[in-house]
Amino acid sequence: MSARGIILAGGRGTRLYPATAVVSKQLLPVYDTPMVFHPLALLMRAGIREALLISTPEALPLFRMLLGDGERFGMRLAYAEQDAPRGIAEALIIAEPFLAGRGSVLVLGDNLFIGNATPKLLRRALLRRSGASVFAVEVDDPRSFGVVNLDVSGRVLGLEEKPALPRSNLAVTGLYVYDGDAPALARALAPSARGELEITDLNRAYLGRGALAVERLPIGEHWYDTGTPDSLLAASILVRRIEENTGRKLACLEAIACEQGWISRAAAQAAGRASPGSPYGRYLQTLPELPGLELGVGAGR
Ligand code: G1P
Repeated sequence: MSARGIILAGGRGTRLYPATAVVSKQLLPVYDTPMVFHPLALLMRAGIREALLISTPEALPLFRMLLGDGERFGMRLAYAEQDAPRGIAEALIIAEPFLAGRGSVLVLGDNLFIGNATPKLLRRALLRRSGASVFAVEVDDPRSFGVVNLDVSGRVLGLEEKPALPRSNLAVTGLYVYDGDAPALARALAPSARGELEITDLNRAYLGRGALAVERLPIGEHWYDTGTPDSLLAASILVRRIEENTGRKLACLEAIACEQGWISRAAAQAAGRASPGSPYGRYLQTLPELPGLELGVGAGR
């Protein structure tokens, strides 16, 4: 049974207010696409075709309007509400019927992974039959993230959520791979002091079972939690620079679907013709001149 994707695109986006006063954070643009295209693109690059998008009751209709059933980019998308911010781990409980016992890849809708390594690491993590995998990256100041502490041999010593005094500078990114036990383990969690089911507590439950793997993103791989004006701008600038340098679009869903063999080149071109006035549309129309897209697409094959 292949794993299914979960994109959590909830929250109030308080750190981006007033940009988020009437629009969900994950619908804001990162340079040339809505932010949510990036986590979706990551799932697609890892070969995941079925995903559940979870958002607030207000924003969910907008995500549906934007992405539909996913067919135009070779995916099957479903939608579910999180009616109050009760924590990231609640996504596994909400997704339980959708997963129907399968494993999952949970990705936060505001997390951007730019580079070739993450899709490869994700594919590798998906080969593990059981347990959970998290993806960690070195940051200057990890205090606003989950933090993982490893010993010299890479064994996990502990995980903490937003520690005031971090034991390492390894932040846990918003990308998680779980086996089919995750919904039951999430249901057994108690809410934290801030009243949320913490994803770090779910990861700790796996650690307690001796079933938590930590994948470190290599230097050169870029990770952004685009929850602040500065990180949102920084991500946009980097996406623009890479796209300018390479001539490739990082989160062009139809192009990735075409590369994966999920839709035909003709279908991708037709999608481009529907928006000829935008660089995204023009890019799709020129796809035949860009053989062998390499930016993470087809990694490891
Ligand atoms: C959440 C998680 C945190 C993780 C971060 C990644 O924090 O709780 O462990 O490091 O996402 O973006 P939030 O950004 O929701 O405060």
